[in-house]
This record gives sequence, structure tokens and C-alpha cells, in this order.
Amino acid sequence: MEETRNMDGAAAMNVYEPHEWKHKTVVAGVEWKNPVGTASGTFQLAACRWFYDVSQMGAICTKGVSPVPWEGNPGPRTAEAPAGMVNAVGLQNPGVDHYLVDELPKLKELGATVITNVAGHSDEDYAQVVAKLADSDADMLEINVSCPNVTHGGMSVGTDPIALSRLIGHLRKLTSKPMIVKLTPNVTDITTVARAAVEAGADALSLINTLVGMRIDIRTGEPIIANRTGGVSGPAVFPVALACVWRVRQALPKIPIIGIGGIDSGEKALEFLYAGANAVEVGAAALYDPTAPLRVARELDDLLDARPALAAKLAVGDTWR
Ligand SMILES: Cc1cc2nc3c(=O)[nH]c(=O)nc-3n(C[C@H](O)[C@H](O)[C@H](O)COP(=O)(O)O)c2cc1C
Repeated sequence: MEETRNMDGAAAMNVYEPHEWKHKTVVAGVEWKNPVGTASGTFQLAACRWFYDVSQMGAICTKGVSPVPWEGNPGPRTAEAPAGMVNAVGLQNPGVDHYLVDELPKLKELGATVITNVAGHSDEDYAQVVAKLADSDADMLEINVSCPNVTHGGMSVGTDPIALSRLIGHLRKLTSKPMIVKLTPNVTDITTVARAAVEAGADALSLINTLVGMRIDIRTGEPIIANRTGGVSGPAVFPVALACVWRVRQALPKIPIIGIGGIDSGEKALEFLYAGANAVEVGAAALYDPTAPLRVARELDDLLDARPALAAKLAVGDTWR
């Protein structure tokens, strides 16, 4: 693989070089050209397309899409945290009608495999978005029942197995597209909600969304983020996310899993694959290094060369454990 030097003189990968992918994966019947996608809310086509060829990613997962435009939360919306960040963006987005005529066709035109992340404040909100996406070009849907930054819907659904089962059962009737349910780690036992989602019709699970956290400004004694609390992401959550994937894989040996949380290198992505994930998504790392998702994918592609047994399993939709 071609290597260049970054500003510190360290070896840096040239992500602009064309690359022939050696190791694909399959998630709920959908082929990804490599096992690395972007994580929802940390990818925006208008910005990211200037940094790398987005069609090179295993999949592009979009920002949460709601039935009508949402303004999100007031600022400040983010704060730094040790080995990561806290955010309370609040699912700001222009709504599903705009998404269907703007970001989705543009992504498909570029040749991306698209996961549309679906957001709602109520079962009816989610249903409206899923119904509108049912005949779209989206390759997969990811139902976000795990956002800690909205007062209704989001995490309040994803922490209650009965409410989750009702919602996913309802959405299942509205679409034949592969439906990924994105889980929150803010529960006592993540396997309980994982099982509820799968039994109600989820084709795959993605985990984790952010952990509830906050920062306080010691000059004022007040929370830094206007929403007071937010979601923690970045390297700090990596071991937590890995354990969640491990536990869900032990409980549900067959369900496809996308591992998310603190991934900023091919090595960390590989740990998720060894924990039993079929694929991974890169989130916060892309906010300080926009090319991180593609760099992680390239690093992983080389690491899999030396692991033919794992690569062979992924290529047919199977997992290491
Ligand atoms: C700024 C920001 C916005 C996010 N927005 C969404 C979102 O719209 N929908 C969603 O399901 N997850 C959202 N997430 C969660 C990420 O997709 C991911 O699950 C989480 O950040 C953990 O991965 P990471 O440590 O790699 O960031 C967001 C995360 C960040 C940092």
C-alpha cells in the first residue's frame, strides 16, 4: 500500500490513491465492498465528498432522517471529553422529503451503498419515514431507537423492550428493506433489548449509540451543553462498545451485527470483528480526521490479508464467533 508522510513526519496512508478492495462483507444479504461504514451523524455528503471518494466505503450511513425538518437542540451542542466528546445535536435534519430528492439520489449517483438512518419522536414518526423510504433507492434502513438527546422517541423506545418490540413489529410491516435496529448501551442488559428487536423483525443490529454524559464549565458552575446532558462518543467508549457486541453475539449467534464506538484504526475495527461483528461504522474519529473512515477501511483491508479464515467468513455473511 502506498504510504506518504503527514505533517508530523509520521507514515500516513494516501487515501486518495485508487484501491482495489480485497475483503468484502455481507450484512443482512447486502454486500459491502469492505466491512467499514460511516456512523450516522458524523457523515454529511456535502462536506465529506471533498475529502474522499465516498463510494469507496463499505456503506454510508446517513444522519437521522425525520418525517419533517427538525432544528435540533440549541447551542452549545458539543463539548470535549477525555478521549472523546459529548454531543447533543438533537437530530437536526431537513426531513425525509428533502432527503429523497437531495442526499439519497446524490449518494446513489456516486455509487455508494446507502444506509438511511431513521429518527422519530413517536411510532407514527418512524412509520412515516419508513413508509416513504420503502420504495426508495436506500440499500438498508437503520432505525435509531437510541438517541439520548431527544425528549420523545429515541432512547426512550430503545430502553423499553415492550415499546421497542411494538415499534419494530409495526415498521416490519411497512418495508421489505433490510432493517437494522441501532441499540443504546444505556440499559442494564443490552441483550434484552437486542432480543426484543430481533424477535419483532430486525434483520440486523448496530451497536452502540452514545452513552449519556455531560461536562460542567467550572467558571460558571453550569453545564457546557445547552441540553445539559449529551451523548459520549470517541475512543473512551471503545471498550464499552466492544463488550456490548461481544455480549449480544453470545446471546444471538445468528443476527448480523454492526459494531460502532471509538473506532479510529484498522486494529480497533478488527477487534470488533473478532468479537463477532459482521461490519463496523466509524463515527467521532471522522470529526477530527474527515478521512478516518476510509483510512480505517484501508488499514483493515490489509490486516485481513493475514487473517484468511476471518476474511472468508465475512465474505459470505458469516462471523468469527
Ligand atoms: C455529532 C454526532 C451526531 C450523531 N448523530 C447520530 C444520528 O443522527 N443518529 C444515530 O443513530 N447516531 C448518531 N450519532 C451516534 C454515532 O453514530 C455513533 O453511534 C456513536 O457516536 C459511537 O461511535 P463513535 O465513538 O465512533 O462516534 C451521532 C454521534 C455524534 C458524535
